[in-house]
Parts: sequence; structure tokens; C-alpha cells
Amino acid sequence: MTKVWAHRGASGSSPENTLPAFEMAIEQGADGLEFDVQLTRDDHVVVIHDETLERTTDGRGWVADHSLEDLRRLDAGAGHEGFEGVRIPTLAEVFDLVRDADVRLNVELKNSRIPYQGLEERVLAIIDDYGLADRVIVSSFDHNSLRGLAESGTTLPLGILYSEPLWRPWNYAVKLGASALHPSLSATRPKVVERSHEAGLEVNVWTVNEPVEVERVRDLGVDALITNFPARAREVLNSR
Ligand code: G3P
Ligand code: MG
Repeated sequence: MTKVWAHRGASGSSPENTLPAFEMAIEQGADGLEFDVQLTRDDHVVVIHDETLERTTDGRGWVADHSLEDLRRLDAGAGHEGFEGVRIPTLAEVFDLVRDADVRLNVELKNSRIPYQGLEERVLAIIDDYGLADRVIVSSFDHNSLRGLAESGTTLPLGILYSEPLWRPWNYAVKLGASALHPSLSATRPKVVERSHEAGLEVNVWTVNEPVEVERVRDLGVDALITNFPARAREVLNSR
């Protein structure tokens, strides 16, 4: 059965990548949570998607130019009725929230635009502190970063994110040392799912919001779909 992972939490109904979004996703029956991590100026791991603050907060400029203290003052819930004053969480705060919940944790390293030095090591250390290695999968569009993790000898599962169709991505994933492909919906082809499974890889697809898309990826047999609307996806999957 295809699993439902909440994309940036239940981001269709709450402010993305915030604690309420993750709580809501769990309430909606998500099997997993996907979220994006970056480094502050003073090297704290925070959960936010864009490299800049304007779209999801009342701040301005680059995440990387702000200290954690600066970022904690920002409102990440503005514009979402009932969520005003919600803060940008740290990775540790998210782990505190979900440590007893039965959900997979897809930590996406948001490091392809800004190659944050030391992000991988810091994320690994926090996963280790919380003893969550058996529930985490680390993904990134920066495949050099994933290769570095594989070479470091990590036993964490690694997921290769990509947006456009690739040639035999299952071979690429195996060679790199990854255990999953994370294609966009439009780059997800039946042959990729089939060959990846033969190679022992998971295929986790984003972003799958519409019921017809949920049915399509379910019929392809993908392992997880990553959606902004976990309750809706769950309903479609249960309705069969
Ligand atoms: O991890 C799946 C998806 O989140 C990748 O794209 O831009 O939403 O982080 P993006
Ligand atoms: Mg993401």
C-alpha cells in the first residue's frame, strides 16, 4: 500500500514547515513527514523551504544571513488565519514533537542553491541525538551532498530528488549508494518504478495533490506519495 507523506507538513491547510503543520499531518493520518532544512548564520539547523524569508515569514533576506535568535522573532504563520505568531522551528524542535509519533521522517537537505558547509554533519548529529536513525530518510537535489553522506559510511537511507526524467535513474541511485528515488510526479514513469523495485530501491513521489494523481501513483505502485493534503490522499487510497 502506498504510504502518505505530508509535504512540508499538512501544508495545504496550515503554514508549511511549522510545528502546527506537522501536528495536523499526524492528526490527518500521515505515515510520514517531509520537510526542508537549512543552516542559520550561527549554524543552527532550521526547518524552512525557501533560502529567503519573504514568502513564508514577515522577515526579509537570506536565511543564511540571520542568526537563530533573529529567525525566532519572525512570524511564519502570518497570512494563515489562526496561525499568527507561529515560529520557524529548529530540526530539534520538530524531532521533539514527533519522537513518539509513528511516522517516517524525510529530511530534505535544502542545499543545492546554497551549499551550506557542515549541514550534513549537523543534521546527522541531531538525528543521532534523538535516536531517530531508523525512521529518517535524507533526501536532496544536491547529489554530491548525498554521495558525500554515502562515502562517510552513514547507514541512513538516502533519497535522490529530481524534477526531470533521467536515463536509468535506478542504476545511478545504486551507484551513488542511495536507497530511494524521489522523482517529481511528472518525472515518474512506470518503468522507473518497476526497475527501481527490482534494484531494491524505494520510489517516493512528490507533489501528489489531486485525487486522480493519487490514483495514478497508487496504480504505479510507488512506495510513498508526498502531498500537501494528507487527509485527502488517505481518503482516496482507502476508498479502493
Ligand atoms: O522532497 C520533495 C519535495 O519537497 C521537493 O521539492 O521544492 O518542495 O522541496 P521542494
Ligand atoms: Mg522539500
